Amino acid sequence: MMTTTSPTPHILITGATGLLGRPLLRACNNRNDWRVTGTAFRRTAPGLERIDLSQTDAIPGFLDQLAPDVIIHTAAERRPDVSERDPEGTQRLNVGSTAAIAQWAAAHSAFVIYISSDYVFDGTQPPYRPTDATHPLNAYGQSKLDGEHAVLQAGCAAAVLRVPLLYGDVERLDESSVTVLADALIKAAPGQQVKMEHWATRYPTNTADVAAVLIGMTARRLQDPDFGGIFHWSGNEAMTKYDMACLFAPLVGTDPACIVADPTPPTGAPRPQDAHLDSSDLERLGIGRRTSFTTAIPAILAPHLHAKKIER
Ligand SMILES: NC(=O)c1ccc[n+]([C@@H]2O[C@H](COP(=O)([O-])OP(=O)(O)OC[C@H]3O[C@@H](n4cnc5c(N)ncnc54)[C@H](OP(=O)(O)O)[C@@H]3O)[C@@H](O)[C@H]2O)c1
Repeated sequence: MMTTTSPTPHILITGATGLLGRPLLRACNNRNDWRVTGTAFRRTAPGLERIDLSQTDAIPGFLDQLAPDVIIHTAAERRPDVSERDPEGTQRLNVGSTAAIAQWAAAHSAFVIYISSDYVFDGTQPPYRPTDATHPLNAYGQSKLDGEHAVLQAGCAAAVLRVPLLYGDVERLDESSVTVLADALIKAAPGQQVKMEHWATRYPTNTADVAAVLIGMTARRLQDPDFGGIFHWSGNEAMTKYDMACLFAPLVGTDPACIVADPTPPTGAPRPQDAHLDSSDLERLGIGRRTSFTTAIPAILAPHLHAKKIER
């Protein structure tokens, strides 16, 4: 495996322009002992390799050219309501690309880390360990589970990392399901009541922390050819969207009294009510990092609040 063939391991990050891919690419680039390549699709930029991963026939030739030792596959359709409307398109990207990457990895002794989701569980019996029974409630969760099977059945060396709701630096406030709540507060008229879902318990997890976890897993694999399997990583602060909105209120200048807790399940694709992921396997390996939500959020919102004030 790459410990013997590549003195400088080549790490390929798919989806390097995404919410998770950006901090992951940045953190990997900070290491001077790895060669790092990121892929983009719509958000092309100098230094990134462009590929449409839903065109799965193109994947083997693309990987032949780059010859990575480790592929961290983050690219996906991750909006459950989009997946519900377009299950075939979602399967093509989330499962088809994963299968093609895993098959190439099996033939070339590369290691794959596939990013999966807490939505593989139905949310009725938290906390979930990696070996617990899966039961996705929507097309997105099913596609992520099918992607896991594609990786684990391809015969390549692989790890699956399941993560819950992610938040981090955003290009626009509506880029993530967390920061979009601040956007909703900002867009409301002064004194207007804003309903916020208070039904599902989430564990918002910082993308820079997940990047640190992925680096820890990659480094571990480069040292230990037996490392692999299914892992979980999650923040440990339980919150509903209503709880998050109440934390945002003073930061965006909203009167918390205007935020109304909505106890009904969200409309659209069905969601798990509490799919808390037990992260103890990675913790035992000494891999992991947790930034507190309240500490991280002000710096994430700040650039966008300044821009919004100018717009107003
Ligand atoms: N965000 C969450 O709350 C969350 C929660 C649990 C699990 N996850 C999982 O975490 C991973 C990363 O999610 P994310 O939030 O970073 O996603 P994201 O912000 O939506 O980014 C998606 C990435 O995939 C790329 N991509 C989309 N369609 C593509 C295509 N046809 N060909 C090639 N690349 C394509 C995008 O590239 P361009 O932008 O350049 O087009 C982008 O880099 C995903 O596997 C997701 O399922 C996310």
